[in-house]
Amino acid sequence: MTPYEKLQHCLACVREKTDFVPDVALILGSGLGALADEIDAVATVDYHDIEGFPVSTVAGHKGRFVFGYINDVKVVIMQGRVHYYEGYPIEDVLLPTRLMRLMGAKVLFLTNAAGGVNKYFNVGDFMIIRDHIMSFFPNPLIGPNIDEFGPRFPDMSHCYDPELCNIIRDTAARLNIGVREGVYLQFTGPTYETPAEIRMAALLGADSVGMSTACEAAAANHAGMRVCGISCITNLAAGISPVPLDHKEVAETANRVAPYFRQLVKESITAIGKAL
Ligand code: HPA
Repeated sequence: MTPYEKLQHCLACVREKTDFVPDVALILGSGLGALADEIDAVATVDYHDIEGFPVSTVAGHKGRFVFGYINDVKVVIMQGRVHYYEGYPIEDVLLPTRLMRLMGAKVLFLTNAAGGVNKYFNVGDFMIIRDHIMSFFPNPLIGPNIDEFGPRFPDMSHCYDPELCNIIRDTAARLNIGVREGVYLQFTGPTYETPAEIRMAALLGADSVGMSTACEAAAANHAGMRVCGISCITNLAAGISPVPLDHKEVAETANRVAPYFRQLVKESITAIGKAL
């Protein structure tokens, strides 16, 4: 089976459960999954019920698509994502993003928990992702090009759609929620970075670091989706933070700021829906 045939098969599995056609796809990062429980859901599909679908092994990541409405906007939400460090081939890490494209989504809204590299950032800040650095991660589009999605050599000049970034910024201002803007750097994980790697990331122009997102953004951009995203700065990155990093701190911060995060994401998607 080619990757595209596998995707068609996954789509058929989803279509057995729902014929809902979303406009916006939303991927929820660590500790941010509760948003999916708050929307007007019309259907859910467990990843387990989609043959060939990669299922996350990380504790705290649920594994299902939630279909429904955020205000009037038709969304599909991934409650739990898969990461490259779990050992899946990169096509499998990209499969959910591409599947949501095939379901009909025109916009991909990415969220993640990230370490703060920019020295002016504080724990609990939100950062609109304006661009990314993926040079320390195998390029996810290596391999035969899937011509059905897009070209062999995709342009990445506006991977994060400037209009959508501005909508998030304006929405945050309206809600009185402070936001930063910056560049996200994706490492593979699963180790957190060394202090030297974080100094390098800062020198290269990164503002936040994490283990997801850029590869999904690249695949979505290749497939003609408009992309935007927000990092939740759950900790200061290694060497900046005075304490050792651990997943518990990441989860605790994400939980603490989750109500603001959910409000920002929901209101941004509402505004994006109006602009489509
Ligand atoms: N580094 C990498 N990934 C992360 C971090 C970090 O500091 N925090 C949350 N995800």
